[in-house]
Amino acid sequence: MIQIAIMGLGTVGTGVAKVLSENARQIERKLGEPLQVKSILVRHFRDGAYRQLMTDDFARIESDPDIRVVVETIGGVEAAYEYTRRALEAGKHVVTANKQLVAERGCELLELARKKNVRYLFEASVGGGIPILHPLRECMAANRIDEVYGILNGTTNYILTRMVRTGAFFSDALREAQAKGYAEADPTADVMGIDAGRKICILADMAFGRQVDPAVVPMEGISKLSLRDVKIAGRAGYRIKLLGRAVRLPGGGRTAYVAPHLIPEEQPIANVEDVFNAVVVRGNATGEVMFYGKGAGELPTASACVADVMECLQSGPRQGGVSWSADTAGFEDPLELHTRWYFRIEGSLTDAALAFGQVEVLSEDGETAFLTDRISGQEARQQAETLNVLACMRVLG
Ligand code: HSE
Repeated sequence: MIQIAIMGLGTVGTGVAKVLSENARQIERKLGEPLQVKSILVRHFRDGAYRQLMTDDFARIESDPDIRVVVETIGGVEAAYEYTRRALEAGKHVVTANKQLVAERGCELLELARKKNVRYLFEASVGGGIPILHPLRECMAANRIDEVYGILNGTTNYILTRMVRTGAFFSDALREAQAKGYAEADPTADVMGIDAGRKICILADMAFGRQVDPAVVPMEGISKLSLRDVKIAGRAGYRIKLLGRAVRLPGGGRTAYVAPHLIPEEQPIANVEDVFNAVVVRGNATGEVMFYGKGAGELPTASACVADVMECLQSGPRQGGVSWSADTAGFEDPLELHTRWYFRIEGSLTDAALAFGQVEVLSEDGETAFLTDRISGQEARQQAETLNVLACMRVLG
């Protein structure tokens, strides 16, 4: 009998307990012995199926020699960091879905895990149920990764889809996403692009082998997005999606950011809707590879956590180790990137042409919406200062 602990009994922690119980036979067949939850760390005791397993004392988990793996689904950094560090120090494997902790302190926790000959695994922290970190590290290992981008937040993609398809109000769509268990405890992190930002940092860390500090990554969400731009873009053959993007720059640097983008509708990622996420990885040997699936929700995210638990128990401590350098040097402002830009201005086509030269007009009815040629973000910003800009976004591709 293998015993584990779960810390935190929110959406993901509950999902982990459910998957372990519903799929107990398949899991036992693969591991060769049954896997059982011995303790669940909670802040407040509550009645229900797991009442007998609950404790509010982390020291009981830390000092229990029977517990081999701890699943951290507390979220946030303070308590989650402290308990993760102590669990690793105590020689236990730790598995998590906590993207904030991995993005901010992952490098240090991986180093500690290595010293203690245990694993720190976090497949569930990016893309929910989509296998992305393992394929990036293992299946694409022979590549130099030049770019990773994706729809990394299920809540905002759900909100955008509902607004476009049914004309739902932002607030109603957000409430639905919360009811379905997609949103963070504080949904500001979803709406403002911060959740996607933490995920693109983890992807960039792994893709480029160096720490990307979330504090320096520009993160823009969907709160300023207007349905008017969604409609103009739609009529011109584009969908608007919130993308996280990490790019290797020609001079050897790297950059990352989160922002809404116009995406040509023929690109597969333009058609990723509802809670689904998609991550595109561009390797120098593979070209673009897209990973697609449910990016949030109880059972998809729990599926990735439980698979990591099984991996801890099946492989030797040093097998398949993940790591990246703590050195943050070489991170550059994403305004260095060259892309096409979408603008909607209060002004005429002449005003647009005076600022940007030749442009592609998408709509002209008092306001003018247009696409520029490929220019740097710096240039887009400089020229925008000469205009009365109502909206502006990058175009993917
Ligand atoms: N709040 C996150 C999302 C959960 O909506 O994608 C999964 O990380």
